[in-house]
Amino acid sequence: MVLDHLASGVRRVVTTLAVALAWTGTHGETRAQDADAAAIERGAYVFNTSGGCSCHTDVKNDGAHLAGGRALVTPFGTFYSPNITPDPETGIGAWNDAGFIRAMREGVSPAGEHYYPAFPYPAFTGMTDQDLLDLKAYLFTLPAVSRSNEDHELDLPFAWRFMVGAWKFLNFESGPFVPDPDRDAAWNRGAYLVGSVAHCGECHTPRDMLGGLDRDLWLAGTTAGPEGGGVPNITPDPETGIGAWSDSAIRSVLARGMLPDGDFVGGAMAEAGEGFKHLTDSDLDAIVAYLRAVPPVVNRIGKPPPAKTSNEWE
Ligand code: HEC
Repeated sequence: MVLDHLASGVRRVVTTLAVALAWTGTHGETRAQDADAAAIERGAYVFNTSGGCSCHTDVKNDGAHLAGGRALVTPFGTFYSPNITPDPETGIGAWNDAGFIRAMREGVSPAGEHYYPAFPYPAFTGMTDQDLLDLKAYLFTLPAVSRSNEDHELDLPFAWRFMVGAWKFLNFESGPFVPDPDRDAAWNRGAYLVGSVAHCGECHTPRDMLGGLDRDLWLAGTTAGPEGGGVPNITPDPETGIGAWSDSAIRSVLARGMLPDGDFVGGAMAEAGEGFKHLTDSDLDAIVAYLRAVPPVVNRIGKPPPAKTSNEWE
């Protein structure tokens, strides 16, 4: 009797405990799932803002999304972008968070090798840990594709990877973006987006003999863009840049891929632009505010800009 009573008491305690544990368990799990879902959603925005990592898809040859193999022809030789799908063997599926942050921030692979700055880590280094981890969380939800990377075809001395160490020593400073307290929030957000996440400067700035960005000509355009062609001057110079464009004309290039003359942007900008179309209004404002404040540089790339400027876009 007493024993029975004791046994049922124990049973009751055990059941209560089990229920309590199960409740905390599922509760903890849902919370973790919610946190993951939120990180993935933020990561999708970071991914789009980065231009959808479009260099990693070999569009011309119908390559699988982000599976690499796209040829980037540069004055130093041809680079082939690597597979960044979550495939553990041929992609980045086996990378941990620290490895991903190190690659993006330091330009060093999990195997400890320096990356060539054809991979725009000199821009991505400015990204916050939070944005990088969210981006990784999102990338890891995408389909894994098995496709092995190929070697770059580079001219000497660039083919010697140790040269990259020397280049980095001279040209590269790692570390997250530091806001300028003398500027307002919009400018700082714009500087972060243009300089780091969206890496506009990596395509729109000419490079020096070692392949580093020529910072004196920041955003002033180049005749040797990532696809071999020209990339326009987007500094506020009114003649050779976009200084005569209205705010809405600039927004329209990013939000819709449409130029002031009604034409649509092509090439690399059109691909990155698929991501830029998702920018929020406040981020578009921030980018415009920042572009307006960049030092104007006189540098004509290609044909003169369309005579029709912006007023009709206001
Ligand atoms: C992957 C390379 C790449 C990236 C990244 C990139 N652009 Fe471009 N951009 C181009 C190219 C190439 C063109 C020319 C497209 C054409 O002629 O159709 C262009 C065109 C433009 C134009 C039109 C200028 C004109 O005179 O016609 C603007 C404005 C512009 N980009 C702004 C930006 C901004 C702002 C960012 C970052 C948010 C950015 N781009 C990121 C390659 C890039």
